[in-house]
Amino acid sequence: MNDIERHKRAAAEAAAALVEDGMRVGLGTGSTVAHLLPALAARALSELRCVATSPATESAARALGLTVEELDAVGELDIAIDGADQVDPSGWLVKGGGAAHTREKIVASASRRFVVIVSAEKVVQALNPPVPLEVLRFGARHTLAAVGEARLRGELESPDGNLIADYLGPVEDPISLSGRLSATPGVVEHGLFAPELVSDILIAGEHGVERRAGGKRTV
Ligand code: 5RP
Repeated sequence: MNDIERHKRAAAEAAAALVEDGMRVGLGTGSTVAHLLPALAARALSELRCVATSPATESAARALGLTVEELDAVGELDIAIDGADQVDPSGWLVKGGGAAHTREKIVASASRRFVVIVSAEKVVQALNPPVPLEVLRFGARHTLAAVGEARLRGELESPDGNLIADYLGPVEDPISLSGRLSATPGVVEHGLFAPELVSDILIAGEHGVERRAGGKRTV
């Protein structure tokens, strides 16, 4: 295992330790979450109720003996844990490298506490393109022209069968970009996550796991 994978695993294990029996837990998607699932299963918490953000996470979680249910059956989540592609100094994230950012944003917002787990190389001074977009198939060419500086990511589909594209233009002002992308008809969701969605960011590197507070007030 290389250093980055070791760091992903360290962040994932630190997050798994935050979970208590009886909690309703949102599970993200990606290679960092792939380390979370066995760490969570190893805790042998018999009353956990999990919600998965992708079919890949759902089948991996079930294979490890975790109970996975629909979000609407579970209701509010106590904690959700997920990776990210980029984390900036003010706590903005870019997510969606794994094409699941719409479900991930719904799960993050349905959760009282949203914990982001990253290896240290995901921390950037300023967010950079690409920003993933989930786009409705109907009129997708028109939608991407309206977004500008965007291209489809091949045949890749979201877990809900929509297209995945990448916005490639400037990202210096994530508040206004986020507003513009959300207001573009046909964009189902974009991969910019505001600090207000995030409770904690666990960043694992050479010197262990550092915790940064996010902007979400956990009640
Ligand atoms: C999936 C995501 C992932 O959390 C993000 O792409 C990070 O992935 P990884 O843990 O594999 O580096 O947003 O849609």
